[in-house]
This record gives sequence, C-alpha cells and structure tokens, in this order.
Amino acid sequence: MRVLLAGGAGYIGAHTAVALLDAGHDAVLLDDLSGTHSAAAERVARITDRTAPLVVGDITDDAVVEKAFDEHGPFDAIIHFAAFKAVGESTQKPLQYYANNLGTTFALLRVGIARGIRSFVFSSTGTVYADPVDLPFTEEATTSVDLSNPYSKSKRMNEVVLADVASVNPELNVTVLRYFNPVGAHPSGLIGEDPAGIPNNLMPYVSRVAIGSLERVGVFGDDYDTPDGTGLRDYIHVVDLAEGHVAALEKSAPGYAVYNLGTGVPVSVLGLVAAFEKAVGHELPKQIMPRRPGDVAATYCDPAKAARELGWQTRLTIDDACRDYWHWQQSNPAGYAGV
Ligand code: UD1
Repeated sequence: MRVLLAGGAGYIGAHTAVALLDAGHDAVLLDDLSGTHSAAAERVARITDRTAPLVVGDITDDAVVEKAFDEHGPFDAIIHFAAFKAVGESTQKPLQYYANNLGTTFALLRVGIARGIRSFVFSSTGTVYADPVDLPFTEEATTSVDLSNPYSKSKRMNEVVLADVASVNPELNVTVLRYFNPVGAHPSGLIGEDPAGIPNNLMPYVSRVAIGSLERVGVFGDDYDTPDGTGLRDYIHVVDLAEGHVAALEKSAPGYAVYNLGTGVPVSVLGLVAAFEKAVGHELPKQIMPRRPGDVAATYCDPAKAARELGWQTRLTIDDACRDYWHWQQSNPAGYAGV
C-alpha cells in the first residue's frame, strides 16, 4: 500500500512510517513542521534504508494536500496524525485548536476522496470516554464531546465527522484509533518524542529529570482511590502503537470502525517512575504535589477488539518503554534541535 501520513514527522507519525516501511508499504510524510522537525523524516529513512519523502505545508489547505498527491500519489490510504495537542494551550487558544484539528481532516478528506483513496485512519484518544464506571473502556463505553478541554473535544468532533462521511462514502474504509498513553521510543535511539519547552506528560518529564534539565518529578496527587494513591494510566509503547496502524490498514474494511490501542494494563505514576529509575540505574528526586486539575484517577482500556479483529496486540512492557525512551534521550539530549 502507498500511504500518506499527515503529521508524519511527529512522534507517532514517524514511528508509524518506520512500521509501514518495515512491513513493505510505501510512506510519504506531510507535515507543517510546527512542533516537529524535518530530521525525523531523515531518521525514518536511515532506520529503514528506504526513502520517506517529506512534503511541508499547512494541511488545512487543500492545495497543500493536492501537491502531496501530485508529487507522490496516488495513495491507497491516508493516516491522519496532524493535530495541535497541548491540552493546556488548547484551553487558551480554542479557535486555533478547532480550526487546525478539524481543518486538517476536512482538507485530507476532500482531496483524498476526490483522488480515490480507499482507507482513512484517524488518530483519536482514549480521553473521549466519559464515565469511569465503564473501566476498562471498551469501544462501546459512553463517549462525550463535553470534555474538559478543546483538544479532547476536537478529537471527538473529528470522530463524529468521520462517521457521517463514512456513511455517505460506503466504499471508504474509515478507522478511528483511540490511543491510550503513548510512551517509549524506537530502540535505535534515532526517533522519539521531542516536546517543546517543559513537558506536560509524565514520561518526558521524568526523562528530563533523569538527564538533569529539570530538578524533580512532581507526582500530581497521592490520594486517589488507587492501590498506591497515584493516577493509573494505560501506557503503550509507541512501537506497538505504530504496529497497530499497520494492522488497522491491512485489515480495514468498508465502513466506520473504532479500535482502542492500549495494553489493558494500568500502571501508576509511582510505578512508571520506578520503572524509569530502573532504566537509569538510580533513584530520581520526586515530590508529592497537589492533584492536577482535570486529571482522572484512572483510565485504561480493554484492547480485545483490536486483538480479535486486527490480529494486533502489544508485545512491549513499561520497562521496554523506559529503556527505549532513556536511550533516545541520552542519544539526543536536545532532541532533534541538536541534530
Ligand atoms: C494527557 C492529556 C490527554 C492526552 C495525553 C497524551 C491531560 C489532562 N490529558 O493525558 O488529553 O491525550 O496526555 O498522552 O493533560 N503526572 C504527574 N506528574 C507530571 C505529569 C503527569 O504526576 O509531571 C501524572 C498525571 O497526573 C497522570 C499521569 O501522570 O496521572 C499521566 O499524565 P500525562 O502523561 O500528562 O497523561 P494524561 O494526563 O493521562
């Protein structure tokens, strides 16, 4: 299959490009390079010994998507990773978030359908599930668009748009993948997560403490109703997550389908920090802090549907993710900017 990866220079996009190329597919990356780096495309090519062309431009613009098709098409499929994703910033800049996170989808669908794609895969999030009584979340669990921030709302809005588009394009395979918490890096140490500024997410933060650029890990709350009092999440190694996209593309069928991509195994904040300390080889400074507003005590999925229908399941552990993230961090202390 020949696949266009919108947002392909990003963390999950670059790992998926590697997984597609390793599986014998062709991959072309389309990215606006806001928050991403062109070096990621070069590193994808280096890991796979294949070409991974990069087209740069604003993906909300039909002309940019058309250029990717003109220069590198036709494509069998589009995988859409391109989104602004800083949860806090999204509450300050709702219009930019809705315009970008929906506008990219509109342009990719308009051009992709006109140019005859068969499959469209969308990066969604496990935060669309609304009610903790449903844990572990299956794809049937209640979803809401009434979520705590515009980033998450934009993801659920995209799902609604995609279901409607699928219903009037019955020949199109539309797959929504609801990610839980992506962590880790490619074992080569060549591609990984490269957050700008101070990271919001736990593993990148812990890694910055380990490399010495941040002082200590703040543990946001130790009074949740969980075994050690800290929040539980379903951390999925980004290499497993990338392979989930390949499985979804290879198995996709006409219509609209939703899959959770997660491990199904909840890990606490202190559990993740302990696993990272093991990878680093020593303890890290940490401090219990108040709960972070908007956080839930626990979120983790039931990944059985993806196993059953896509023949996909995770094979890597939280220890693998910490080892690989730390390898990437040590090999690239300044991220891609140091390249
Ligand atoms: C966050 C986003 C979610 C997004 C996901 C991407 C929020 C509220 N949610 O999820 O929309 O899809 O990232 O991976 O931002 N923690 C600490 N100290 C830290 C950072 C985090 O204790 O410095 C804790 C949190 O309280 C939480 C866990 O670690 O219990 C995971 O946090 P994080 O990595 O930010 O992910 P989520 O909040 O689950």
